[in-house]
Amino acid sequence: MSQDAITSLLKETRRFEPPAEFSRRARVGAQATYEALYRESIEQPDAFWRRETSDLVFRTPWTTISDWSLPHAKWFLGATLNVTESCLDRHLTTATKNKAAIIWEGEHGATRTLTYAQLHRETLLLADALKRLGIEKGDRVAIYMGMVPEVAVAMLACARLGAVHTVVFGGFAADALRDRIHDSQAKLVITQDGAYRRGQVVPLKATVDKALAQPEAKSATRVVVYQHLGKERCEVQMTEGRDVFWHDLLAGAAPACEPTVVDAEHPLFILYTSGSTGKPKGVLHTTAGYLVGAHVTTKYVFDLRDDDVYWCTADVGWVTGHSYIVYGPLSNGATCLMYEGAPNFPDWGRFWRLIEKHGVTILYTAPTAIRAFMRQGDEWPAKSDLSSLRLLGSVGEPINPEAWIWYHRTIGGGRCPIVDTWWQTETGSIMMTTLPGASFSKPGSTGLPMFGVVPEVVTKDGKPVAAGEGGLLVLKQAWPSMLRTVWGDDDRFRKQYFSDVEGCYFTGDGARRDEDGYFWVVGRIDDVLNVAGHRIGTAEIESALVSHPSVAEAAAVGRPDDLKGQALVVFVSLRPGVKAGPELQAKLAEHVAKEIGKFARPDAIRFADALPKTRSGKIMRRLLKDVAAGRELTGDTSTLEDLTVMAKLRQQEEE
Ligand code: WT7
Repeated sequence: MSQDAITSLLKETRRFEPPAEFSRRARVGAQATYEALYRESIEQPDAFWRRETSDLVFRTPWTTISDWSLPHAKWFLGATLNVTESCLDRHLTTATKNKAAIIWEGEHGATRTLTYAQLHRETLLLADALKRLGIEKGDRVAIYMGMVPEVAVAMLACARLGAVHTVVFGGFAADALRDRIHDSQAKLVITQDGAYRRGQVVPLKATVDKALAQPEAKSATRVVVYQHLGKERCEVQMTEGRDVFWHDLLAGAAPACEPTVVDAEHPLFILYTSGSTGKPKGVLHTTAGYLVGAHVTTKYVFDLRDDDVYWCTADVGWVTGHSYIVYGPLSNGATCLMYEGAPNFPDWGRFWRLIEKHGVTILYTAPTAIRAFMRQGDEWPAKSDLSSLRLLGSVGEPINPEAWIWYHRTIGGGRCPIVDTWWQTETGSIMMTTLPGASFSKPGSTGLPMFGVVPEVVTKDGKPVAAGEGGLLVLKQAWPSMLRTVWGDDDRFRKQYFSDVEGCYFTGDGARRDEDGYFWVVGRIDDVLNVAGHRIGTAEIESALVSHPSVAEAAAVGRPDDLKGQALVVFVSLRPGVKAGPELQAKLAEHVAKEIGKFARPDAIRFADALPKTRSGKIMRRLLKDVAAGRELTGDTSTLEDLTVMAKLRQQEEE
């Protein structure tokens, strides 16, 4: 967020009460009801979670709600289940059977609808086919696809077999995919020929080929290719004995695949995310706790009703897509819109036309998108009838009050509550929000804790700070959908989340809590950036840069940006004899895109003779942040080893 945006956030005092008409029909229609439910969730968790999950399918009920022990809490001990029975089978005995589960629209306007019965059938067919390919309980399967219904089918088919999926966002480059396959030791990759993005074909299968050509990815011996674009638009190379088309595979499969019943703590999926150090971490989520978290939050936060058309605009490759396009909505029997392409294709009216065309009632999107639309002007949304909307959601980064107000007025017509939901890949489901029919909202505040969640703002020593004061945001007790470990690196799990503040899970975020108990998340205080809602580790960018032969050292920092929240600025010092210049800048930007993915391409690359360091040799990112933002240097420079380094950087800026 820009400095102006932070200042306006700190001054924000407006309150928006839930509209009476909304509260009257809401699942939770009063603040007192929310408070009673919240209290029960903390004081009588067993009673609370038993009631709230009575619509989920457990083969054996749990005997113990939780062992509560951090860092390694276990939930719903003794329970057995298969998540697909809650997401699919249970709907086949009710009127939901023939209700649309997924309404899909491609970037070029083609549409498809899959009912629950159809989604169930497709999932069973693929699960049976995967079984024939040798996929068993506990095996890892990488999914590298775009936004097509088959990505949900692929995830659910894995879950059906008790296999562990790891979805890799389609914007990641071949090397990033290779690393994830290697780390998870995935046996099989499910992909598609290509996907549309801004009118271009993204050749996903070709990227899989590049990843698998490298020895590190040798665990993956089979590839299933869903043909989405077809031969004329996206030719693929099939490797004999390794690759098989989805449709050929399904031709020999039966739509009957008994679910593999697993223990509550059986791994459901791994999702890689950036941390403050080193390579991406494989966040592990397990079966019952994750399902319960996604299910209960979807139901309450989005106040789901049978006739809703719900649209979460995230990509399935991120956790928001896992929890709020796939598992949460499906376990609730909701109708979801899934859109393949870019928000501004072919023009900035696309989102709004999608809402009108499909009668979307609930929209869940990100501040960076809201700001981008806001910039294009009110004439775009004005061209479409948005009166079907009844609830709006925001996720991914703090929303600045200006964008909040615009979203409320221009998109929501002043009648739709906004839920600003704070959570993380690691938390699995929404941790803080306001319930739309119960609590007033304040633009820029993420509101109050969700059921079973105990957040607090503390000092480094774990002492709670006074209302209104800033500090570290921690979660004080275990919650059902929390990550269980970092795949293959439990040490890192303990260090990353449980070593900063004694006895608590540390989120990496800074926050404050106001007199009303509302939380205001300011943003990451570790070396993780949030660029247009994408989480980027500075260490990853730096290691990508130093892998280039021209680069000696690199430091990545965030610069406040009105549109993206943060822009990515990198400082590099070059190896002797290498010439700085625009050409090298372009080359380095391309290199990062190739190593990680286009979304991680730096916004600015600056050359420096040397980077500012402490006497012990640590790069002083704090100073670089000031330089990147064009601010006066703030704070202490007394530990700086060589003062002339900063002078040179500043001078360069003035040139
Ligand atoms: C980080 C987690 C799971 C949501 C998608 C991003 C920031 C997320 C909010 C919000 C302020 C937010 C935090 C958090 N964040 N939602 N409503 N208000 N900040 O998941 O990639 O794991 O990133 O996103 O900094 O730590 P993620």
